[in-house]
Amino acid sequence: MCGARRGRRFVLTPAVSAPRATEAVIRVEALTKRYGDLVAVDGISLAVERGEIFGILGPNGAGKTTTLEMIEGLRRPDGGGVVVDGLPVWPDPNDVKRRIGVQLQATALFDYQRLHEIIYIFGSCYGIHRGRDACVALLERVGLADKAEAFVDELSGGQAQRLSIALALVNDPVVTFLDEPTTGLDPRARRALWDVIGEINRDGTTVVLTTHYMEEAERLCDRVAVMDRGRIMALDVPRALITRLGAEATVRFDLSDRVPAADLCLLDGATDCRAVENGYEVVADDAQRTVVSLLELARTRGLRVAHLDIKGADLEDVFLSMTGRKLSDDEDEANASALKKRRRFGFGGGR
Ligand SMILES: Nc1ncnc2c1ncn2[C@@H]1O[C@H](COP(=O)(O)OP(=O)(O)OP(=O)(O)O)[C@@H](O)[C@H]1O
Ligand SMILES: [Mg+2]
Repeated sequence: MCGARRGRRFVLTPAVSAPRATEAVIRVEALTKRYGDLVAVDGISLAVERGEIFGILGPNGAGKTTTLEMIEGLRRPDGGGVVVDGLPVWPDPNDVKRRIGVQLQATALFDYQRLHEIIYIFGSCYGIHRGRDACVALLERVGLADKAEAFVDELSGGQAQRLSIALALVNDPVVTFLDEPTTGLDPRARRALWDVIGEINRDGTTVVLTTHYMEEAERLCDRVAVMDRGRIMALDVPRALITRLGAEATVRFDLSDRVPAADLCLLDGATDCRAVENGYEVVADDAQRTVVSLLELARTRGLRVAHLDIKGADLEDVFLSMTGRKLSDDEDEANASALKKRRRFGFGGGR
């Protein structure tokens, strides 16, 4: 139902969103949470469809974790309501808790327990008593079958994250919530985890995740809510958010000899241009016309074009246009803060 990722893994969703079934597995209405004077979540409403990967994208302190925890029944809202799989979460969240899987932003586990033992213990909390083979089968789903006999203490950051995702699956949940599942991981481990999350989703579990990585939201999520300062600034298929922005592309290149930047502003489709450290940047409302015109200019002046690159608009541009700030400015800080939280609670992260 949800776009091009089905069958063609992690290909960007097409610009025109396909018609979709609209059965909501989560409905959030005017959800609000205050900490003293701070309104951490400010009356947000959204619906998550059954079967999708839904992302909440936002910088540090946007209110992502607080939102998730209110939906999961872990943090009581000050206002509004949440319904999960047809059941109101509040005032008594216990029925909903049995139906969902939760990976918290930080997970505390005993270092010297074997992975298959932890799977057993977590399962038994839900009354599910798996034999060793069934525990290993669950570890297999997150690519950790060969670590079944390992201790938590022996896992790398990426493996630890996989284990915490496996633990969020022990009760075969209708919805799995993953709070910043890839923060602090290197790009390879992050991509490998996207594969794991994609597989879980293909197996039929709705996934709700938070992230502050634009690429993750763009590639992994069917729909994304862009959150900032407790509010949802935009919510849609990532491609649709970007397309609706009508943003321009940036054509970057170098030339074998210097030309006045003003000459480049005369290229077809160019709306702005500047000389930069390693060449030139031309902002274009039609990048294809601009590139053709650039090649023509280079030919007539006997110049060679090098390092030609076109950067299309992305979720960063969406965030920038909604908030006036760059989301990527927060990435280093977000990484550091997430790792700090994780270390405090046990998992080493990033080893
Ligand atoms: N228990 C708490 N007591 C007081 N303030 C809190 C509490 N938990 C969160 N906050 C504040 O509420 C705001 C939202 O926090 P939240 O943890 O939901 O953000 P987040 O989007 O998950 O951020 P991050 O990307 O750092 O995980 C922040 O300003 C935070 O400082
Ligand atoms: Mg958080």
